Amino acid sequence: MRGTGTVETVALFDEDRATQWEDYHLSGMPELIGSVHLGYALLGLASSGMLDRLRAGGRVPSAELLAELAPAVGAGLLRYLTVRGVLDEFAGGFRLTRRGELLTGQIALARLGFYLEAYGPVVRRLPDLLSGAVRYGVDVERGHGSLGRHSGTVSSVSYTPIVAAALEALGARRVLDLGCGGGSLLVELCQADRGLTGVGIDIAPEPIAAARRAAEQAGVADRLEFVVADAFDPGTWPDATDTADVVCGVGVLHERFRDGDDAVVQILDGYAKAATGGRALLIGEPEIRYDDRENDSDFYLVHVLTAQGIPRDRAGWLDVIARTGLTCRRIWTSAVVGPRTCFYELEPKD
Ligand SMILES: C[S@@+](CC[C@H](N)C(=O)[O-])C[C@H]1O[C@@H](n2cnc3c(N)ncnc32)[C@H](O)[C@@H]1O
Repeated sequence: MRGTGTVETVALFDEDRATQWEDYHLSGMPELIGSVHLGYALLGLASSGMLDRLRAGGRVPSAELLAELAPAVGAGLLRYLTVRGVLDEFAGGFRLTRRGELLTGQIALARLGFYLEAYGPVVRRLPDLLSGAVRYGVDVERGHGSLGRHSGTVSSVSYTPIVAAALEALGARRVLDLGCGGGSLLVELCQADRGLTGVGIDIAPEPIAAARRAAEQAGVADRLEFVVADAFDPGTWPDATDTADVVCGVGVLHERFRDGDDAVVQILDGYAKAATGGRALLIGEPEIRYDDRENDSDFYLVHVLTAQGIPRDRAGWLDVIARTGLTCRRIWTSAVVGPRTCFYELEPKD
């Protein structure tokens, strides 16, 4: 046995250095560093397949968790997550703690993935974006596939019931979803209503491919079509969109604020034409309020860095809508669930 009992330890104290180190602790920076790494570690746990095995419940033997993974890295990650209170280790295996279950919940991981996976590649380039050395959309892109996937998960829990209520009130039988992402909205609406059909369009091919797969898996592919198309150019929409009785779009239109309010007014005027003949419009948009609730400021930052238009609150949207050929009949929103989002039910002015 080796010990320090006979070895002299000299502990030096220096008021100045002690204060500097104390200041670092008081700044909260250690927790910030820990949060960043814990976020990546949780995403790694999920993407490696280990989370699925842990979710099955109870203790999972280490060998089973680490099957087909780099053993040293996998074992190290499990140890890290144990130290961070996500896992318990006992009897040669691991289980999720209650905190671990909450941190790896569907919404928690989707929110994390939205910021780290979808927008992380852009946020990491902040210095270069700031200096102008790189430009968003030219040298750097957000992760389109992961954006569609994670937005879809959050939508399912927070927006889908609002849209379903609005569609029922509008008597919808065929829905066009603009900027449909991974298609979760249409898929879930069709699962809940066997008489409903729909078409989703998105500018990015990855989410459209994912949406087709999701419709197949859910057994509703015979009632849904997904097409790569530009939501901002109704003249180019595929024929399948002609017969939709409600045109819906969630979290897509604000992107055009990047070109100023007039650009959005112009698109809404285009939609006003598409909304003739009794067609209704339901435009869902995140509501930013600069109060830092639910990562509101992070949401703002990723919009700045990706050269998107900045979301605004409902008063801001009503000002823009008032300048178009549309009028807002109603705002649908959820009292407490989800990132704050308003659905503007619009119809052409008389
Ligand atoms: C924040 S995501 C929202 C996805 C989905 N509507 C939801 O709520 O989960 C925005 C989506 O709009 C799509 N998008 C952006 N510009 C578009 C355009 N001009 N036409 C069609 N889709 C567009 C993006 O590819 C992305 O899938």
